[in-house]
Amino acid sequence: MSNTLQHIEVIPTGGALGAEIKGVDVSQSFSPAVSAAVHQALLDHCVLYFRDQHISDEDQVRFTRYFGEPVPHVRKQQDRRVKEIFIISNVKENGEAIGALGNADISFHSDLSYMPEPGTLSTLYAIEIPRTGGETLWCNCYAAYEALDETMKTRLAGLRAVHRHYVEDQNPPGHVAHPVVRIHSETGRQSLYVGPHLTKYIVGLQEEESDELLKTLCTHVMQPRFIWTHEWRVDDLVIWDNRPTMHRRAPFPETERRIMKRTQVFGHEIPV
Ligand code: SIN
Repeated sequence: MSNTLQHIEVIPTGGALGAEIKGVDVSQSFSPAVSAAVHQALLDHCVLYFRDQHISDEDQVRFTRYFGEPVPHVRKQQDRRVKEIFIISNVKENGEAIGALGNADISFHSDLSYMPEPGTLSTLYAIEIPRTGGETLWCNCYAAYEALDETMKTRLAGLRAVHRHYVEDQNPPGHVAHPVVRIHSETGRQSLYVGPHLTKYIVGLQEEESDELLKTLCTHVMQPRFIWTHEWRVDDLVIWDNRPTMHRRAPFPETERRIMKRTQVFGHEIPV
C-alpha cells in the first residue's frame, strides 16, 4: 500500500487526548502532504497510534524524521545497530537486561524534562507485550492548564521548576529549570509542565510552599478526566508530543515479557 492523503483516517479516541490513524503503512515512505496531515493530527491530538505496523528500526527512524530529528538517548545501551533506537524492556538475556525501565510503575513525566532542551517527540513500537499490565497512560496538560482557575493561573505565571533524573549521572551539570506553564512552539497553546516523577522544586519558593504547590498541581493534572490509556497490541506504533503531555507506564508482572523500541527527539528546543 502506498500512503495517500485520501486514505488517511484520523479517529479521535473520544478520551482526553489521542487519535488512531488508519490508512497509513509506516514501512512505506510519506509524501510531504501525508507527513503534513499526520503532523497536524499530532498537534491536534497530542498522541497518535497506528495499529498493525510491520516496521524495521530504519522505518521507525525514518517515520520519526518526518516530524523531528531523532537522537540517541542520553542513557547508553549496548549493541545498538541503529543508534537512534532505545530499547525499553524488562527482558534479560544471559543475565543482562536488554533494555531500560524494567517492569515497575513509572509515574507521570514528560520525556527528558531534566535536560535543558527536553524531549519534544517520542515514538514507541510494541514488539512484545505482557498479558496483563504495561499500559501507557497519557495526560493532556493543555486541558489541565485550561481547567485551572484564574487565581492559580496568575500565581503560576513566570514560575520555573527544577527537573532532575533520579539516576544522578543521567543529569547534565547544574540545575535545569523550566517554566511551570510552557507555551507550545507550534500551537501557541499553554500547558502545565510539572509532574511527580522528575519535577523537584519550584525556584524561589520556600521548600514547604514549593512542595505544597507541586502536590496541588500534580494531583490536578493526574485527574482521570485529563488521562487516556493506551492498551498495547503487538505491532502498535505510537508517537506523542511531550510538550503538552505527560505519560505513565503501568506496572506488569516481572514474569511477563515486554519489549518496546523507542525513538526520541530532543536537544533543539528550550521550553518558554
Ligand atoms: C517511558 O516512560 O518513556 C516508557 C513508556 C512505556 O514503556 O510505555
